[in-house]
Amino acid sequence: MITYGDDFQKLSKYRRESLSGKGLDWANKPPLYKIYPPELKRFELPKPRQAGGLPLFSIIKGRRSERNFSNNAVSETVFSQILWAVQGITQADEYHQLRAAPSAGGLFPIETYCFVNLVAGFEPGIYHYQVPDHNLVLIRPGSFGTELAKAALSQKMVRDAAFNLVWSAMIERSKWKYDQRAYRYVYLDAGHIGQNAALAAVACGLGSCQIGAFFDEEVNALIEVDGTAETAVYMTAIGTVR
Ligand SMILES: Cc1cc2nc3c(=O)[nH]c(=O)nc-3n(C[C@H](O)[C@H](O)[C@H](O)COP(=O)(O)O)c2cc1C
Repeated sequence: MITYGDDFQKLSKYRRESLSGKGLDWANKPPLYKIYPPELKRFELPKPRQAGGLPLFSIIKGRRSERNFSNNAVSETVFSQILWAVQGITQADEYHQLRAAPSAGGLFPIETYCFVNLVAGFEPGIYHYQVPDHNLVLIRPGSFGTELAKAALSQKMVRDAAFNLVWSAMIERSKWKYDQRAYRYVYLDAGHIGQNAALAAVACGLGSCQIGAFFDEEVNALIEVDGTAETAVYMTAIGTVR
């Protein structure tokens, strides 16, 4: 009988008698950001609004998982706004850069990839969201909607979405502090991020659907990560609701 899920749940529990209180190895703290080489093309995003919009409770009431998207392009402004709501920096000082979604220990292990299909001003391709600069780096030009849909158990909405967000976890960033318990926290972090995306989509007049059903290694291959140190954990399809 397969029990690795049950085992993980049991083994990763905090217990009073075994909480180690290990010290942190500050000299080997993993970097908080994944930065791509400077020779890859960067795309600026319009400055996002940080106030206003619909009242929160109306947005919460308006959120549904939407799976039928039209072929309307999303504007750059809306695209930028949603990325900011997902992982944008909302407060910064000399020591910390805090983001739109909370993160266990402020370690921010989640990376955001955008599979662009229909976004005004952006050629189709796989982009990585560079948090510190609020811009995108094009890592693979081309239309990957059909391939991503295939990897997501052939869910048609993925092919039709204006764009899909794929979130990966940089496991070491969280393990540095939490060891094996990190595997709980990366999924919780991703959940917060996914909800921000869903609510921001509603606020921008769009719909979204969160996606947990995908062939992990196929998605990892598309974003060119190894599936161990960095591995895909969650996705969201976003577009204009038909
Ligand atoms: C972790 C998670 C994974 C999900 N994966 C999928 C998915 O792969 N495909 C899908 O169509 N919906 C998926 N959903 C959406 C749920 O089916 C949906 O949230 C649920 O039916 C409740 O409907 P609502 O979101 O409209 O309130 C997922 C939702 C969550 C939170």
